[in-house]
Amino acid sequence: MALALTGTLMSSRRTFLRQCSAVTGGLALSRSRAWAMMHAMATPANTLNLSTLPPFVDALPVPPVARPDGVRSLASSPKTRLPYYRLAARPVECKIHRDLKPTRFWSFGPSVPGPTLELRSGEEVLVEWANQLPSKHFLPIDYRLHGAEGNPEVRLVAHLHGARVPPDSDGYPEDWFVPGKSALYHYPNQQEAAMLWYHDHAMGINRLNVYAGLFGVAIIRDQVEDSLNLPSTKYEVPLTIFDRLITPDAQIYYPISERERAPWVPEVFGDAILVNGKLFPYLEVEPRKYRFRILNAANARFYHLSFQNGLAFQQIGTDQGLLPAPVSCKSLMLAPGERADVVVDFSDARGERIVLKNDSFVVMQFRVAENKVSDGSSLPAQLRPVPKISESEAVKTRLLTLDEYESMVGEPVLLLLNGSYWHDPITEKPALKSTEIWSFINPTDDTHPIHLHAVRFQILDRQRYEPWTYQTKRQFRFLGPRVPPEPCEAGWKDTVRADGKMVTRIIVRFDSYPGRYVWHCHLLEHEDNEMMRPYEIVSAA
Ligand code: C2O
Ligand code: CU
Repeated sequence: MALALTGTLMSSRRTFLRQCSAVTGGLALSRSRAWAMMHAMATPANTLNLSTLPPFVDALPVPPVARPDGVRSLASSPKTRLPYYRLAARPVECKIHRDLKPTRFWSFGPSVPGPTLELRSGEEVLVEWANQLPSKHFLPIDYRLHGAEGNPEVRLVAHLHGARVPPDSDGYPEDWFVPGKSALYHYPNQQEAAMLWYHDHAMGINRLNVYAGLFGVAIIRDQVEDSLNLPSTKYEVPLTIFDRLITPDAQIYYPISERERAPWVPEVFGDAILVNGKLFPYLEVEPRKYRFRILNAANARFYHLSFQNGLAFQQIGTDQGLLPAPVSCKSLMLAPGERADVVVDFSDARGERIVLKNDSFVVMQFRVAENKVSDGSSLPAQLRPVPKISESEAVKTRLLTLDEYESMVGEPVLLLLNGSYWHDPITEKPALKSTEIWSFINPTDDTHPIHLHAVRFQILDRQRYEPWTYQTKRQFRFLGPRVPPEPCEAGWKDTVRADGKMVTRIIVRFDSYPGRYVWHCHLLEHEDNEMMRPYEIVSAA
């Protein structure tokens, strides 16, 4: 009965919003980020005071590398034997800090993040994703959200973010399965070296499952990368960064709104920033070059990372692999879902303790050893060519708005892509192997990190525009020049920051597999509240 009631509320709210759209031309402009910050500050009254914890008392853990559990054949070609992995999601208890008792998470391995998948370009593998979770969720489900209405509480589906995968192994949000079930996915790995990551994608509860800990890193390597002699083995370290709110008894806390039947909040920011699952860890390093594979696995927080002593990052790769040449930068900006591949040279910092910060907040510490070492690795001046996709190759340009809707009191209540709900008919149907330009028109104040499954793309530019003219007349009034991507974004991407009051253009070749995929905002609270749409790559025949 309760479900029927919320269902009715949901549809009447939809009708109401649609009517609004018809009147206003589509949008109620939003100040959601500011609102969310205030709200997120106000809600968790009862969180742990992190300043009572001594920093840098835990060594940075590195997640274990997943080992194959044998070989299996592909259902479609029984003769092909492929390495087979089984990753099961289970409740785990992990110590996030020496002085705290263990914290409950859900993970695909013994700790959070789950085990790292080490993959080779062109070498196919099978992964069985298993759900061995309990039947009750420990985070607050909002039953009004699409996918959460009337479905079991605990469901999961795994998506390998950044992978070119046939649609039935991509983790379509509606392909979730319940405890006791599993799904066998086939990863062809026909793509260049890159850092990918796997995470839950279950419709309507994805933000909670990822917050619970259902994610991990996957690394694809290839010969081009091998030939560069970059720092490797123990000198290559993944840094997965994510934030959580922590209760005084050391448990993760997911905030809820003040509306009783609508616990969804627009964005979640935790003050505890974890790196590979530890709070304020330290890493002992030698005075030499290291390669760090950095992933922002937060639900909503953007990281703006820098070293306290001004040490530079040499960025060598983006989401989808190597840049043409290293880009030296003093700070790194990473939106949720984005990755950066960087080399840091500690050789001039012997004996120093260097803090990595997120703006003014401490993230972790590097302890550089005193004694000189020899460093046989290189940082080549040329990495991998990234041939520019010419705009003339595009057969279509799609104009796609990023929409936020607010309640009467100015709270964001719903987010849509191009005014459409998840269940509306599919509108983006690029032809297989065709090239298109997608223009993300963002009238809001928020940056929405937009991710497309199954493909990699290049950023063309961003341009400031005046939203009102576009909303009312569907005409662009630009307020500035087209700004090309930053050098550190000028490689292959799969997630792009579509900044507020800007039109962000990307160019995409849909050269993977035909079938149904999704594109969405990677702020997971937005994604779960309709800021996700199916799209279909259509074969020409
Ligand atoms: Cu990180 Cu739809 O994914
Ligand atoms: Cu968003």
